[in-house]
Amino acid sequence: MGKIPAADSSGCSLKSKMTFRAIFCLVLITVAAPLWAVSTPDKAAIASAHFLATEAGHEILSKGGNAFDAAIAVSSTLAVVEPTSSGIGGGAFWLLHRAADGFQTMIDAREQAPGAAHRDMYLDEEGNVNRDLAINGPLAGGIPGEIAGLEHLAVHYGRLPLSVSLQPAIRIARDGFKVDEKFHALMKWRIDTIKRWPEASEAYLADGEMPPVGHVIKLPDLAWVLEQVAERGAEGFYAGPVAERMVKGVREAGGIWTMEDLAAYKVKEREPIRVIHGDYELVTAPPPSSGGIALAEILNIIEPFRVNEQDPVLRTHLLVEAMRRAYRDRAIYLGDPDFVNIPVAMLTNPYYADGLRASIRPDRATPSSMLAGNDQLPDGTDTTHFSIIDTEGNMVAATLTVNLPFGSGFMPPGTGLLINNEMDDFSAKKGEPNAYGLIGFTANEIQPYKRPLSSMTPSFMISGEKRAVIGTPGGSRIITMVLLGILDFVQGNQPESWVSLPRFHHQYVPDKISAEPDAFSPEVVEGLQAMGHEVEVRSRTWGNMHGAMWNLETGEVSAGSDPRWPSGRAIVR
Ligand code: GLY
Repeated sequence: MGKIPAADSSGCSLKSKMTFRAIFCLVLITVAAPLWAVSTPDKAAIASAHFLATEAGHEILSKGGNAFDAAIAVSSTLAVVEPTSSGIGGGAFWLLHRAADGFQTMIDAREQAPGAAHRDMYLDEEGNVNRDLAINGPLAGGIPGEIAGLEHLAVHYGRLPLSVSLQPAIRIARDGFKVDEKFHALMKWRIDTIKRWPEASEAYLADGEMPPVGHVIKLPDLAWVLEQVAERGAEGFYAGPVAERMVKGVREAGGIWTMEDLAAYKVKEREPIRVIHGDYELVTAPPPSSGGIALAEILNIIEPFRVNEQDPVLRTHLLVEAMRRAYRDRAIYLGDPDFVNIPVAMLTNPYYADGLRASIRPDRATPSSMLAGNDQLPDGTDTTHFSIIDTEGNMVAATLTVNLPFGSGFMPPGTGLLINNEMDDFSAKKGEPNAYGLIGFTANEIQPYKRPLSSMTPSFMISGEKRAVIGTPGGSRIITMVLLGILDFVQGNQPESWVSLPRFHHQYVPDKISAEPDAFSPEVVEGLQAMGHEVEVRSRTWGNMHGAMWNLETGEVSAGSDPRWPSGRAIVR
């Protein structure tokens, strides 16, 4: 078994080395990059989970839009053609890089709890969580943020009005799109929930049953809602007839939304989390995402381990131990930053990572029970991600969600939109796993107008030579997928490689490594088991990653779309 390499192989301390690196990287990024940046990207790259969405983005670029306008077109088209994963009844994070001045921000359009929500709203008389209420039907829905986010993007960052950038989505909602393999597979899982709601059944099923692949779905009500937004901006969604239909539908079916809840919804701009890793700066999602802080912790822990140089058993062990510790902190510390004090500076500090690293043995797994425990399911098929680089060098990493496939399954009459079930991303009861097996405590308990903790991790990797845009859906597994993609990028590989890599994951609780079928050889599984790890090799894959890269020296742009779901498409044009 290999040994963990010494942190101080260069003769200077990790901290001073990291400080030097940080300064070196910042010099490269702020001084040298503009020199290279005279070579702008030779083409624009868009990679998304559906070919119609990727094409919609390019259509808007060809009409004079920038990456931010294209992001509106891609997001709204995905909301139509991929209801499994996102929608205007859900929320999103868009991480932006503006080429003109290097400004970076994250648009937080996460759903938020309605005003009548309360901590124990999903507990029965015995104090047990009623998971059905938390994931199925209108009580599971947070106030949607996506439309507010699209308007914010258009007004503050785009060049085109929403009436132009929403056109592809409106057209496709009216003319129809075909059921693909992903839609079909996930509908099989959620059909019982969809069947509970007549409008959702009418919209998505064929004569009340599973629609076959190739079945054409038309959504005239959704086209009407998008037209209201195209004409009146977010006001067309959060007030007036659309809002009235949503509130009436939700309340008649047992939900608690009010017109005031919709009117109160506001987009927030958040300063991204930044961490230096090797020669790169990682720019990533801040709270209410847990992804950026967890990624920063993991990268800080593994910084001196040089994991990509280790044999596969030791590499996996070290990454898993770092994942375990970061997911523990996720459970304890993270929640909506407007409601809880998150020690961001501490959690992302290399000194803090030193303490976590010190508890890692090179030859043994640390049982999570030395820290807490439980067991659960998911496969990471919800949510969606896309990546854009335009010919000016603007970049967008966007991850959007309705939470579980088809969200809550509930469609308010006359709207064509599915309400999310993001309330299940709160901790309904301390230490009790949610649908992703994720646990949480007070920091992520339900409160009125609070945003549930997310794992969505849209990210950039930036150096003076290369820029990467990366992210994926996959619930609790998002963070570890992005981590593995980043490590592959750092090794010099292209987006096609990041998105295709076999994946493994550990989230502290349950205490086991889960692996895709091709992630480990039998020898690696044996080696990990000998260290005390439980390894579950799954029969199914997970995630749906879409990434893009710009080489500043050559101007070349490339993109990759996850081969796990064939409807995705990366187009460089
Ligand atoms: N609903 C998945 C997430 O936000 O992490």
